[in-house]
Amino acid sequence: MDKKFKRTLVTCALPYANGPVHIGHLAGVYVPADIYVRYLRMKGEDVLYVCGSDEHGVPITIKAREQGCTPQDIVDRYHKVIRDSFAGLGINFDIYGRTSSEVHAGNASAFFRKLYDDGKFITKESEQYYDPEAKTFLADRYIVGTCPKCGAEGAYGDQCEKCGSTLSPEELLNPKSKLSGAEPVKKKTSHWYLPLDRYEGWLSDWILGSHKEWRSNVYGQCKSWIDGGLQPRAVSRDLEWGVPVPVEGAEGKVLYVWFDAPIGYISNTQELLPQSWEQWWKNDETRLVHFIGKDNIVFHCIVFPSMLKAYGDGYILPDNVPANEFLNLEGDKISTSRNWAVWAHEYLQDFPGKEDVMRYVLTANAPETKDNDFSWKDFQARNNSELVAIFGNFVNRAVVLTHKYFGGKVPAAGELLDMDKAALDEIPQLRASMERNIEGFHFREALKDAMSIARVGNKYISDTEPWKVAKTDLGRCGTILNVSLQICADLAIAFEPFTPFAAERLRKMLGVCLCAGVDHRKGEQETVNTFKPGEGAAIHTVSLPSGFDFAALKASCPGADCNVCLDWDMLGKDCILPEGHVIGEAELLFAKIEDEAIDAQIARLENIRREREAALAAKAAEEAAARIEPQKAEVSFEDFDRMDIRTATVLEAERVPKTDKLLKLTIDTGLDRRVIVSGIAEYYSPEDMIGKQIVILANLAPRKIRGIESKGMILMARQGDGKMRFITPQEALVNGAQIG
Ligand code: MF3
Ligand code: ZN
Repeated sequence: MDKKFKRTLVTCALPYANGPVHIGHLAGVYVPADIYVRYLRMKGEDVLYVCGSDEHGVPITIKAREQGCTPQDIVDRYHKVIRDSFAGLGINFDIYGRTSSEVHAGNASAFFRKLYDDGKFITKESEQYYDPEAKTFLADRYIVGTCPKCGAEGAYGDQCEKCGSTLSPEELLNPKSKLSGAEPVKKKTSHWYLPLDRYEGWLSDWILGSHKEWRSNVYGQCKSWIDGGLQPRAVSRDLEWGVPVPVEGAEGKVLYVWFDAPIGYISNTQELLPQSWEQWWKNDETRLVHFIGKDNIVFHCIVFPSMLKAYGDGYILPDNVPANEFLNLEGDKISTSRNWAVWAHEYLQDFPGKEDVMRYVLTANAPETKDNDFSWKDFQARNNSELVAIFGNFVNRAVVLTHKYFGGKVPAAGELLDMDKAALDEIPQLRASMERNIEGFHFREALKDAMSIARVGNKYISDTEPWKVAKTDLGRCGTILNVSLQICADLAIAFEPFTPFAAERLRKMLGVCLCAGVDHRKGEQETVNTFKPGEGAAIHTVSLPSGFDFAALKASCPGADCNVCLDWDMLGKDCILPEGHVIGEAELLFAKIEDEAIDAQIARLENIRREREAALAAKAAEEAAARIEPQKAEVSFEDFDRMDIRTATVLEAERVPKTDKLLKLTIDTGLDRRVIVSGIAEYYSPEDMIGKQIVILANLAPRKIRGIESKGMILMARQGDGKMRFITPQEALVNGAQIG
């Protein structure tokens, strides 16, 4: 880390508490942030790791309405689901707060008030849609109508989900309020705006001038916003759910969700560290890093920094904003509304004990520079042929053989041969590459480096074959296992950021502990460490109100009986495990994933796809049916009067042999009995027709169809989708009644 900084504050985008989190969220934001935090902590840096639920915004109120409950019920439910999913995946924030908390309401309100008092806002009147029946202004999402671009019904005031166009509510045809169904009317309303245009020059110097190291997707988006000219942004809304605008005469107005949510990072820090939070937010020696998805870039790079700048008072700005692109699922965009997702909480249920596998696969396929795809087959392959076959297999051989030949004690290393040195020499290089990659936010590459260490180990033990050497030269076998165990210890360090559960199992097998730096989860209490001797694989950490001393923490390692306390600095150094060190029992690091488990997941998704396709097809058919043909050219009354249209009854009906479409009908026209051949077999079977009263054109010139003379024509109604129905009088009439 840059020497200028003494500590790092890592935030993760606050997920909306209107649904559970899925693998797209995990891959884009939370898994990379967690890798970063674990890495820095192992390096002895002081890191605060903050997240929480974003509990305001219109989608939450819509969901509540749909489900007939309050917005608070919705956020209470999903806050817990999301919080537990993160914990289940080993994503352990120091605090996972929520923006419906009192601390946050007070904080966001005070933040607004100061900007208001300092004259940092402008007010503007605008015309907004208003529901005259429900007597309330309508957020864009609350207005539905016909899409002006594709003609689909049910497009929202901000977007058509059918064709994907971004819309404004004014563009919708036939706009209707989602609340009452009433036609919305325009009504004047006044709002506060943050005049971003005033910050343009400053933003340009700060980002475009001095943060050229930001990821190109982030830098590029900022540049195009700034170059395009910034506009004032409304920071209030006419809504009931949110933090009330703390100004007289602002009844019925709340802070816009994107104004209050980022302040939530600060509120959550305050909630955890009421005395010392300012050290994290108002101290130049703190490095702030926001992990987000690409749809959040403008808010974190332009809007929130402008808010902080306007506020002044020493708030720091982000030093970096690593934003990821999107993850697709089996080739399709992840979509909450279409249920096209792998949900974190369901994954944890379906794959207990495999938290690491998902972390690993999402990192290996991380959408860092472009959108990427998750597939269950790839998930299975990466587990079985990488985690199990390389990493797990290597560790298992080293540990089992050490028990078999050396009673579970690290054997002495004799003289190292070139092949031993060559294997060990690769590790410091891979470590250096990992450091560059993690510090540059290239987590996929960093994972490849870590996996390369496992490959080095696996190849080394396969090439040296200690199980064979043992029969002739136990000393050499000991050397090989010593080298192998050192590489296992390297893996316990290198994989801690990526697969922390497996790293813990590995530490237990090796009888070592991990010095993982500061744990702020207990807030300002002075709990010095959480290591419990006898539990072998524990992590020990300190939690102190201000600063900490990594060397002292290491020196105080209570794992004296385990002898070895790992940290990042030991990776690739000689002899992590001393001769004679007692290791633990072998246990499975990773287990194979069988086809059944994968097939079940694929089947679940296929069902969703099928159901959706069926629903789409039904809808398309409905729309086609409703399509009305334009009117034909005019005819004179005389033309019409020449037609002899009258009622008749079907007496007999049969299929015309060797045809699909034709029925031969014998009918009573009131004038006579005659035969009509009609192309309706697609729509009616002969039994359907017998006894039915129909309408015919009686004086159509006779025609021979398939050798049968057909006299006249049955009148049918044809829908837009081609479906045909015969016409029948409302009540039974005599045959031969004239129509016209
Ligand atoms: N809830 C937003 C989203 O999911 C992210 C909010 S991040 C914060 O896109 F900075 F506003 F908190
Ligand atoms: Zn559309």
